[in-house]
Amino acid sequence: MKHRTATIVITALLAAMPASAQEPVIRYQDLRHPVFGPAGMVAAQNAIAAEVGADILAGGGNAVDAAVAVGFALAVTLPRAGNIGGGGFMLVYDADHDRSVAIDYREMAPAGATRDMFLDADGNVDQNLSRFSHLSAGVPGTVAGLWLAHERFGRLPWRRLLEPAIRLAHDGFPVNHDLAGLLTFRQERLCRQAAACAYLYKQGGEPYRAGELLVQTDLAETLELIAEDGPDAFYRGRIAEQIVSEMQRGGGLIDAESLAAYRAVLREPVVGSYRGVDIVTMPPPSSGGVHLVQMLNVLERFDVAAMGAGSADALHLLAEAARLAFADRSKHLGDPDYFDVPVDWLVGKEYGAMLAGRIDMGRATPSAEVAPGVAPRAESEDTTHYSVIDADGNVVSNTYTLNFSFGSGIAVAGAGFFLNNEMDDFVAKPGVPNAFGLLGGEANAIETGKRPLSSMTPTIVFRGGEPWFATGSPGGSRIITTVLQMIVNVIDHDMNIAEASAAPRMHHQWHPDRLQLEDGFSPDTIRILETRGHEIASSQFSMGSLQTVSLRDGVFRGASDPRRPNAASIAPRAAVADD
Ligand code: DON
Repeated sequence: MKHRTATIVITALLAAMPASAQEPVIRYQDLRHPVFGPAGMVAAQNAIAAEVGADILAGGGNAVDAAVAVGFALAVTLPRAGNIGGGGFMLVYDADHDRSVAIDYREMAPAGATRDMFLDADGNVDQNLSRFSHLSAGVPGTVAGLWLAHERFGRLPWRRLLEPAIRLAHDGFPVNHDLAGLLTFRQERLCRQAAACAYLYKQGGEPYRAGELLVQTDLAETLELIAEDGPDAFYRGRIAEQIVSEMQRGGGLIDAESLAAYRAVLREPVVGSYRGVDIVTMPPPSSGGVHLVQMLNVLERFDVAAMGAGSADALHLLAEAARLAFADRSKHLGDPDYFDVPVDWLVGKEYGAMLAGRIDMGRATPSAEVAPGVAPRAESEDTTHYSVIDADGNVVSNTYTLNFSFGSGIAVAGAGFFLNNEMDDFVAKPGVPNAFGLLGGEANAIETGKRPLSSMTPTIVFRGGEPWFATGSPGGSRIITTVLQMIVNVIDHDMNIAEASAAPRMHHQWHPDRLQLEDGFSPDTIRILETRGHEIASSQFSMGSLQTVSLRDGVFRGASDPRRPNAASIAPRAAVADD
């Protein structure tokens, strides 16, 4: 694959930025040369936030310090997905101890949540309730997750990590074209609630134009409280009170006890291997890591390199592997604290070989003929991913989200931030797909205290025991196949991380039974796939947005997916190499 396009990220950073970042920064990332530097790298969906992370690295912070600061900065500069009202998953590689740890800060169903809470009187799913009401919000996990990462692995003081976000919220940042367009598009939904409308629009609900400053005073105050009192401010103090009042106003369930009971959890990552390379990725309650490793085990039985990138054979194989994995997802995956998830069996080489044996390279297996395996007993957008690596080889791969763009569309009045609508990731009713078309059953039924099943797949790939690259993406169910294709493109098709991010992508998820393709595949290939029985659907929107950093031969590289604007991979300023 040799695209000639170049992604040019031009970021004009105004006075609101840290002192060291006051000149305009111009970054070129072309497909032959990912951004590179000798002392670390940050890749994120928003250039201002990426610059905050690079600045933390340059100021003596490690990858976790940078990741925490980027997490808070994105809550200001990428309000559609960056958040403190949502949750996510962070993977940390601690180079000193040569150890990887997963931090689960997924949202949690509050007290009073019940299996049928989103069904109407006729027993049908009320999607407005599960996606856009106060009931759609789970107990947010982001503040607890970032704090846990800081406590365990951080080097710099907590306040220092929040300062850039506080400044950006208080002084404002220039709205880019992407955000201006999205705010115009979402005006009706976001202005249903006075607080949400006031936070993101001018008086009277008029959208900001590109270049105008978005000032978020209430959010600045909220971040200041978190800087001062840590997570207690959010889970027990004034912010908790504001969340509970918001819930009482709108008929939501999150109460003081549910907030006080929230914990971010340290978990053992899922570990697999692919052609001799180690894959370290997220365990349940995300399904992402399990199915990533499961699909790689299937692919490993085939000569994918010889098939060629984008070939009908390669796409057919990926689709069949994904079909099998998503069938298993519907039955076996859920919150491991509430449901016995057969992880070892699903990620085992033996099961992968068995699944590989079921793939017919000449024919698409209709999904109706594929059922989840039997374990041996015993719309919308948006999420965001960022990856950080520091000069000592510590790595963070973090995906977090509000679920949809701006989550439920409901802001906490007085506190300046949006609440997730992650409760829609549970199964509202067996057989009825969620917003991403995903099916499920008992394993992912709603229960108080339980965490909804996710597809988020922050991943770190190791070679010879050393971190090689860290990657992840938004995209709902497509996250898993997006990360899969990144790994296959790099390992089998020998692409660099920028080429591997840009290559056109496919997706299959068992149901609906169709192979979704981005633009950019040849009509010849598509005809061959149709002959094998695939129903082809255009993906309509681009799939995912990978944010990847890598380390090879002492050089740090970064690649931000060209699919969405304003992303950037930035090396710490002091150490930017000539390129
Ligand atoms: O956890 C999940 O799988 C979903 N809530 C992610 C949503 C998402 O990626 C939307 N963005 N594109």
